[in-house]
Amino acid sequence: MAGFRIDYQNVLPFVNQEVISGLKDKLFSAQRELEEKRGRGSEFTGWINLPSRTGNEELDKIDGLAAEIRTEAEVLVSIGIGGSYLGAKAVISAFEDKPGVEVLFAGKNISGIEHERLLAYLEDKDFFINVISKSGTTTEPAIAFRLIKELAKKKYGKNFNRRIIATTDSAKGALRRMSEEEGFRTFVIPDDVGGRFSVLTPVGLLPVACAGIDIQSLMAGATEAEQYARSENLEQNPALLYAAIRYLLYRSGKKVELLSSFDPRLFYLVEWWKQLFGESEGKNSSGIFPAGCVFSTDLHSLGQYIQEGERMLFETFMLIEKTSSIAVTREKSDLDGLNYLAGRTLDEINCKAYEGTRKAHFDGGVPNLSLMIPELTTKVFGELLYFFEKAVAVSGYLLEVNPFDQPGVEAYKKNMFRLLEKPGN
Ligand code: PA5
Repeated sequence: MAGFRIDYQNVLPFVNQEVISGLKDKLFSAQRELEEKRGRGSEFTGWINLPSRTGNEELDKIDGLAAEIRTEAEVLVSIGIGGSYLGAKAVISAFEDKPGVEVLFAGKNISGIEHERLLAYLEDKDFFINVISKSGTTTEPAIAFRLIKELAKKKYGKNFNRRIIATTDSAKGALRRMSEEEGFRTFVIPDDVGGRFSVLTPVGLLPVACAGIDIQSLMAGATEAEQYARSENLEQNPALLYAAIRYLLYRSGKKVELLSSFDPRLFYLVEWWKQLFGESEGKNSSGIFPAGCVFSTDLHSLGQYIQEGERMLFETFMLIEKTSSIAVTREKSDLDGLNYLAGRTLDEINCKAYEGTRKAHFDGGVPNLSLMIPELTTKVFGELLYFFEKAVAVSGYLLEVNPFDQPGVEAYKKNMFRLLEKPGN
């Protein structure tokens, strides 16, 4: 049983139960193609059984190094972009209260001022670097690494290299060569796991463990999700159900999906999801555009559009039911008229905001489904990561695209390299 449930009542008037059942053959055949590694891009489907095949030895090794980093450093600088950044950021942002080192992220843009500020901040801190790049050639992290490595050399002299951990390909790429030459410790990104599916490899797990988060329980959740995501019973396999519903909504003209959480801790989960779904589905002039909101914040910015703008949207809500017992206090004068809420928890009020929004958007012509999460634990988070990965892979096959490549990402790079006069371009 999943540690969260899908409520899709507000989809049924748009796509009814019969239509969902009618998709079963296509859905199961996509799932089998995936599991049996017969489909498009099958050489990059190693993530499918990654949770169950990752042994305790690998997790202990990561935890061991994380413990060393936590003892010796105040900051871990995690350098990477896209799939080499967003997974760790998503998990760490959701569990910020854990007692690990401060994890800062670099190499995810080319902002001069951001890098200048980071270098100034690191001057007086003891830090380790985890440079992450599967290809080992991505420009943004390469620039950041060069700058921060320079600072590490200045601060730590000839032993600077023991403060650098490279997570990269087992054999290829500049980062692998550099690690061998300069003596960095390394972790391997499996050949059959693409960047945006790599959160449950050392790419995501090392920064997450450094932040003091329990990676064993994260993996336990993902392992459980891996088991139930094989089921051919839609009620027991939320990934298949989600893939089916969003595909049918897309076919009915709903071209944009808003993943809307009611908890700011999930902001970066949505950012991770945007890359996962955008890069996997958006090709051959098709695919659902993945967008995100945090409510109730964005109800005061995008709420107007969602309610009354163009009707090409559907929405997936994420509600965490239990977060805190904090409640509204009573005030004698009640000048703000809020005493009617006195004694009621913010969780209860947030839940009413969710119910009100869900109904309003549905009434306004926006079908919506909800991921109801009783409590946000690391185990459930691991389940959610696997759930989304499985769903997008099946969804890509339904859309008849290769969900595991990203040829379009090269276009801006080609232009940029030409403009920068990079040799060979
Ligand atoms: O999903 C992908 O593979 C890409 O978006 C990569 O994650 C991103 O481009 C970073 O690549 P790399 O890890 O090779 O530096």
